[in-house]
Amino acid sequence: MIKSDLENLKKEVKEALEKAGNLDAIEAIYKKYLGKKGDIILILRSLKDLPEKQRKEKGKLANQIKQLIEKEISKKKKKLKAEGHKTKKEWFDITRPGRKMKIGHLHPLTQIKKIAEEIFESMGFEIAEGPEIETEWYNFDALNIPADHPARDMWDTFWLRQNDIKNQKGNRELVALLPVITPQLSKNERLLLRTHTSPVQIRYMERHNPPLRIIVPGKIFRHEATDVSHEFQFYHLEGLMVGNNISVANFKAVLQEFFSRFFRRQVKIRLRPSYFPFTEPSFEVDVSCVVCGSKGCLVCKKSGWLEIMGAGMVHPAVYKNSGLNPKGLTGFAFGMGLDRLAMLKYKINEIRWFHSGDLRFLEQF
Ligand code: FA5
Repeated sequence: MIKSDLENLKKEVKEALEKAGNLDAIEAIYKKYLGKKGDIILILRSLKDLPEKQRKEKGKLANQIKQLIEKEISKKKKKLKAEGHKTKKEWFDITRPGRKMKIGHLHPLTQIKKIAEEIFESMGFEIAEGPEIETEWYNFDALNIPADHPARDMWDTFWLRQNDIKNQKGNRELVALLPVITPQLSKNERLLLRTHTSPVQIRYMERHNPPLRIIVPGKIFRHEATDVSHEFQFYHLEGLMVGNNISVANFKAVLQEFFSRFFRRQVKIRLRPSYFPFTEPSFEVDVSCVVCGSKGCLVCKKSGWLEIMGAGMVHPAVYKNSGLNPKGLTGFAFGMGLDRLAMLKYKINEIRWFHSGDLRFLEQF
């Protein structure tokens, strides 16, 4: 191909473009000259067989013409579009049904939390919250669990070093959180990931006078090995009711009402003596087995009862450590594992499914 052929090609395209009256005609021109097997493209491809000198010269010209044609085509396209032209391809049937969006839903644990919150709210309980990073004082000492107390062994703890948090310059949010956790954080105070939601009892009573009724749903952390019923990060739902003449009978009535509504069947409550440093007396609470109706099954280990939570009457030291005068105050507190409640309600036999992120599991709720 000689130089003039290229020039002719340029002229030919220009004329064709002038005649083109719609976008489909422009598409056709583009295909003829610049498409995969278009005239100009073929010329550019054939250059490789030419001697170097000619290749350079013609290559330069062919590229210039290619760019020029591209420019002309896009100019004409814009003009036609501005006049309201559309290509056939741009036509679509607006009556065609759309592609369905997949809508997610709340995580089963969030659903359980909401159900529990609604039942307690209807009984006059307020929802309170507390930080997941706690101080040693709130998590242990204020709850009557001093450093050398054997009860600390009950909760294997993830300890945090204050300086490690402060040195995390990249994590400004976490550093900013420290004064929120506790405004008078002393230098030596140890921090930890809370092992239960009971510290919120203290935090709440520091700011509110009885009578009070709260629940505290929240994430907690324990340094322990996992198995089918144990996680190292799970949810607690704490409860606290304080006033005058609050009795164990009140506690039983509230919890019986809660569990009957939660499991949508009449359940019985059984209290067994237990020990928590922040309640006196303390109980382990069992509910009649919701799986077999107390007849005895594998879930309740043939006993007809399910162990569901720890509870007790608030220890006077807890009032004192919250800045309240314990005289005349009575109240109960309890703490249940929400994950375990969800397992019972939905008959799930493996706690680790909840955080597995496996959609085959999650989509069933
Ligand atoms: C406590 O944590 C107390 N703070 C509860 C309490 C509150 C007692 C107020 C008295 C007054 P405990 O360690 O037993 O108690 O935990 C409470 C519930 O959490 C247990 O009954 C169980 O349902 C659940 N739980 C305990 N460990 C795990 C675990 N590793 N994984 C999942 N759930 C757990």
